[in-house]
Amino acid sequence: MSVEPVIITSTAWMRRFCEARRAEGRRIAFVPTMGYLHEGHLRLVERASGLGDCVVVSIFVNPMQFGPAEDLDRYPRDLDGDLKKLAAYPVEAVFCPPVSELYPEGFQTRVRVERVSEPLCGASRPGHFDGVATIVLKLFHIVGPAFAVFGLKDYQQFQVIRTMVRDLDLDVEVVGCETVREPDGLARSSRNVFLSPEERAAAVVLSSSLAEAGEAIVAGRLGRADQVERFLAERIGAEPLARVDYVSCRDADTLGAVDAITRPVVLALAVFFGRTRLIDNRVVSI
Ligand code: PAF
Repeated sequence: MSVEPVIITSTAWMRRFCEARRAEGRRIAFVPTMGYLHEGHLRLVERASGLGDCVVVSIFVNPMQFGPAEDLDRYPRDLDGDLKKLAAYPVEAVFCPPVSELYPEGFQTRVRVERVSEPLCGASRPGHFDGVATIVLKLFHIVGPAFAVFGLKDYQQFQVIRTMVRDLDLDVEVVGCETVREPDGLARSSRNVFLSPEERAAAVVLSSSLAEAGEAIVAGRLGRADQVERFLAERIGAEPLARVDYVSCRDADTLGAVDAITRPVVLALAVFFGRTRLIDNRVVSI
């Protein structure tokens, strides 16, 4: 049964709301987002509703995870549209605080998850995962969820959060959901809205090259991480509108470097189309 969600903008109110739900013996399933919701987010909400007894969604564009030259100001926002989309789901509360509520004057703490944050997006976007870990830990403290649901398109983010939860003994089950894709394979992302029609058409090269590389690994045609990385860089480099930030083949669990592929690996990439940076990944088990 769907109920109209309560729109909550203050930390104290959100905390009280969640405490009251837990006091009734209900387990909160939490979906943290930055809004501009698409099908991928809605699948996370669906998954959350199958896990807990009370679904809470947060919508907060977190300034701490954006670098000074990044797209914080132009990151797409549409709170009214998001609330309309969520109305079709059994969400009990939407937490959408202003920045000053979560980062008041005098705020000076950062959470750093070390090794797993360092390669890939951590190398291209210094401090990004400190910002993610800090806001997610704050949200976990405010909401007190039994379950928290994240999309696996942000594979490294998922591993960073899992590691933080394990290392800090947080009592929350972190659940990952498969990437939702457009019919041609492009991973759903709030940033897809920035692609020109030509860039949108070209961006299909990301999922198609990941699929090709995955098949070549399974078939034994690519057996080393450096071969896989060359293969991906060549395929994507052949698309004139694509500018590779990184392509990488790493241990799927630790994100550590790999030579010969003998364990599950994640093929991860970040590629610019114009000013828009897209990420995607594929986990390959042999
Ligand atoms: O994946 C996102 O949307 C964000 O990184 C998150 C987890 C909501 C933290 O701001």
